[in-house]
Amino acid sequence: MGSSFSCCGDEKVEEGPNNEMGGENSWRIFTYKELYAATNGFSENNKLGEGGFGSVYWGKTSDGLQIAVKKLKSMNSKAEMEFAVEVEVLGRVRHKNLLGLRGYCVGNEQRLIVYDYMPNLSLLSHLHGHLSKEVQLDWKKRMKVAIGSAEGLSYLHHEVTPHIIHRDIKASNVLLDSNFEPLVADFGFAKLIPEGVSHMTTRVKGTLGYLAPEYAMWGKVSESCDVYSFGILLLELITGRKPIEKLPNGIKRTITEWVEPMIAKEKFKDLVDPKLKGNFDEFQLRQSIRVAALCVQSEPDKRPMMKEVVSILKGEEVNFVKVNQNLRIQSIKYGDDLMAMDQASDQDDDQSSDQGNESSVYGVFGAMEMQKMQDPYKRFGEK
Ligand SMILES: Nc1ncnc2c1ncn2[C@@H]1O[C@H](COP(=O)(O)OP(=O)(O)OP(=O)(O)O)[C@@H](O)[C@H]1O
Ligand SMILES: [Mg+2]
Repeated sequence: MGSSFSCCGDEKVEEGPNNEMGGENSWRIFTYKELYAATNGFSENNKLGEGGFGSVYWGKTSDGLQIAVKKLKSMNSKAEMEFAVEVEVLGRVRHKNLLGLRGYCVGNEQRLIVYDYMPNLSLLSHLHGHLSKEVQLDWKKRMKVAIGSAEGLSYLHHEVTPHIIHRDIKASNVLLDSNFEPLVADFGFAKLIPEGVSHMTTRVKGTLGYLAPEYAMWGKVSESCDVYSFGILLLELITGRKPIEKLPNGIKRTITEWVEPMIAKEKFKDLVDPKLKGNFDEFQLRQSIRVAALCVQSEPDKRPMMKEVVSILKGEEVNFVKVNQNLRIQSIKYGDDLMAMDQASDQDDDQSSDQGNESSVYGVFGAMEMQKMQDPYKRFGEK
């Protein structure tokens, strides 16, 4: 990537380093004008949703490419530098299960990132949004989503230098292409871990329900935080339940609290999403519950690495002693004050769009950047 970011308003001046223009993985610089036109002036009708970094809009370029444009909120110089670094990383990382960069645009006041539009939207919309009624995600697809997401994460953890910790693995950040191949999104804004560093202390960013306890409490971030979040995602895929649910009596229950007694009694079949109407593979079910149970352990050192997770999910022979331990989940209880702040489970639907602010205080639950689950529930570009 070149060094100049003052490109908005100019014509296409740069493109991805290793790829030919218009190729599968190429990125290029977009003009603001171009993105404005593609998204119908960033119209509300084109809005796919809103997350921690800004709003996402569906668009179509003049050459017919469907794109998702993330328009970042207002910037300061530090954020500007972060954006430059992250776009640089995003432009270099290549994996079939990671949503790579299609381009970006930088103006005086704007920072925009362009991705390919994923026609099957997010995992969130299929599991908990209006697409869940269609039950397109059968067991086979769910396993494909689990394995693919794990492979994407494994690549970030083990193959990229410096290693990348995602820090916000959740259903809305797993997007689905036309073949339901999962693409993990938003890793470009994650934490880059320098060589030789085992963990870092950082501001807590993420979504309640997916957060590893050591991260939520002390801001201690390492690859195993992603492993924990992946375990929650896997339970979500198996059960069709949200990471935190609000019961009719107002009490909030985490997914691990719900599965814990059933796993203890080995009632695995009772865990499966009833929408699947009993259509699942028993061996895969047992293996995936086993993986999830290993991933959501409270002690980070006991959790498997993502490459081990991939192998177990694929049913490969794994020389991982922890796999053979008793299948149990000891669910982690978030404090009442933290649960009270969880807004996602307060929603009857997932369509809300506002969110709390990130604080600079470490390790305090109240300082977490709370993000409501949301989804656009609409697919663009359909005939
Ligand atoms: N390339 C894409 N194709 C289709 N939908 C997308 C794409 N990128 C993002 N979305 C959807 O747009 C919405 C907003 O995404 P965004 O990443 O800003 O927020 P989020 O995933 O809810 O939270 P976070 O900021 O933690 O990632 C989400 O519902 C997401 O699934
Ligand atoms: Mg996202």
